[in-house]
Amino acid sequence: MMKKNITTICGSTRQNSTNHKLLKAIGDFFTDDLQFNMYEGLGSLPHFNPDSNEKTIAEVIQFKQLLNAADGIIICTPEYAHGVPGALKNAIDWTVSSCEFSHKPTALITASTDGRYGHAALLETLRVIEAKEIDQLQLLIPFAQTKVSKEAKISDERTLLEIQKLMSDLIKLLNETAVFPEN
Ligand SMILES: Cc1cc2nc3c(=O)[nH]c(=O)nc-3n(C[C@H](O)[C@H](O)[C@H](O)COP(=O)(O)O)c2cc1C
Repeated sequence: MMKKNITTICGSTRQNSTNHKLLKAIGDFFTDDLQFNMYEGLGSLPHFNPDSNEKTIAEVIQFKQLLNAADGIIICTPEYAHGVPGALKNAIDWTVSSCEFSHKPTALITASTDGRYGHAALLETLRVIEAKEIDQLQLLIPFAQTKVSKEAKISDERTLLEIQKLMSDLIKLLNETAVFPEN
C-alpha cells in the first residue's frame, strides 16, 4: 500500500524545541507507515492580512501546497501565555478562506508545561475550520520537557502509549478516507 503523506507543523520556532523533537520522534517511529514532511516555514510567513493577494506571496503558496499535498496533518505545539503561539495562529489564519484543513484528517498534540488553555483554544479553531475528527485526534502532554529526551526519543512510557494510540487512530482514519473531494 502507498504510504500516506503527513505534513507536520511545529508551533514552536525555537531551535531546541521539545515539540520539534516530539515530531521527529513520531516521524522516526512511524516511518514504515507514513511519509512525513515537516513544514519549516512558520517563522517566515508574513502576518495574515485579508487584503493581501496571497497568490503572489511565495511563502504562503509553499505552505498551502504542503497542506494540499498532505493526506493528513499533525500539529504539535506548546502553549504561550495561556494561548496559541502567535506564529502558529498566523499560519492557520492564512488557511481560513481557502479551507486547506477542511475535511482533512488532523491531529493536535499540545506538548507544554501545562498547555490546557492553548490546547482548548486551538481545538476550537480547528473545529471551526472543519479539521476532520479533531475531537478524537487530540492529545495534551503536560510537563512535556520531562517526557522527550535530548536525542528526540519519547522517554515516558505513558506518553509513548498515548502517542501510539493517537497515531493508530490517525492511520485508521487515513486508510478509511477515500480520495474524493467530499471526504
Ligand atoms: C513566552 C512563553 C510563554 C509561555 N507560557 C506558557 C503557558 O502559558 N503555559 C505553558 O504550559 N507553558 C508556557 N511556556 C513554557 C513552554 O510550555 C515550554 O517552554 C515549552 O517547552 C515550549 O515548547 P518548545 O520546547 O517546543 O519550544 C511558555 C514559554 C514561553 C517562552
